[in-house]
Amino acid sequence: MKTTKILDLKRKKNVIILAHYYTLSEVQDIADFVGDSLALSKKATETDAEIILFAGVHFMAETAKILSPHKKVLIPDINAGCSLADSCPAEQLELFLKDYPNHKVLSYINCSAKVKTLSDIIVTSGNALKIVNALPKDEKIVFTPDRNLGAYINKETGREMVLWNGACHVHDQLTAEEVYKLKAKYPNAKVLAHPECKATVLALADFIGSTAAMLSFTKEDTANEYIVATETGILYEMEKQNPAKKYYVVNNPETCSCNNCEYMKLNTLEKIYNALLTESPEIILEEEVMSKALISIQKMFEY
Ligand code: 13P
Ligand code: SF4
Repeated sequence: MKTTKILDLKRKKNVIILAHYYTLSEVQDIADFVGDSLALSKKATETDAEIILFAGVHFMAETAKILSPHKKVLIPDINAGCSLADSCPAEQLELFLKDYPNHKVLSYINCSAKVKTLSDIIVTSGNALKIVNALPKDEKIVFTPDRNLGAYINKETGREMVLWNGACHVHDQLTAEEVYKLKAKYPNAKVLAHPECKATVLALADFIGSTAAMLSFTKEDTANEYIVATETGILYEMEKQNPAKKYYVVNNPETCSCNNCEYMKLNTLEKIYNALLTESPEIILEEEVMSKALISIQKMFEY
């Protein structure tokens, strides 16, 4: 019922619905496009819809607005934030950067529009290694906001990027002990991990990558079982792609029963319907912020 009403409104108002893999399965089902943050940001530049409804979190909808400033960008719940983006307030970063003149500032896309204005290049978990490897070997770099992704890039590239001390509460809470427990229970399972996890978890992974990269890996790979160290929403697409395979998500029993990003789960069908009906909440950004932030995002697309 709600789904039909959403689809009707979507057609009438020429809306594209973009959704991240971490959203609820019923939200992924009504979306025009489901992807990781890299694919979603590309999609936002390509659409000719008049309205973008972003079922994801605030920084993702902001990125879509910066890339399509003349379109209306809606987010079903304005409180869908991101602990990682929140761990790097722009004012504090501005002060921090004063200690690092002559450094390029690389920021993971999980940051506010204001942090993007302080950055030279934006990266996602899908392209960070490629971009860092393409920079001159002697380039001095400050990496924000994720210390885990930054440490992973340092390890893989042999760089010594200065790291902002931020993290995602969903990924950073996962422990090697929990991975070991699952490995003991399912000895034939391969371990997949998102690079926002701690180094101790990444050290146990057979494959490390963005949500889209993990999905491509499991699609092609011949194993039948996987231990998945990321947010649970990804399991919906994994199971759709390969229903015969088994997936075990890593949880932290002390902090949660299930590794959900509560911000992503704020995107419900009810709120999507209301957002389409009222055309709000809308993402509004200052012109100056948008034009400055666009430079660092566009730089990412050059690589
Ligand atoms: P992806 O870049 O894999 O989409 O990850 C985004 C995110 O928020 C992970 O927590
Ligand atoms: Fe942010 Fe973590 Fe949620 Fe991803 S999972 S949106 S990084 S809080």
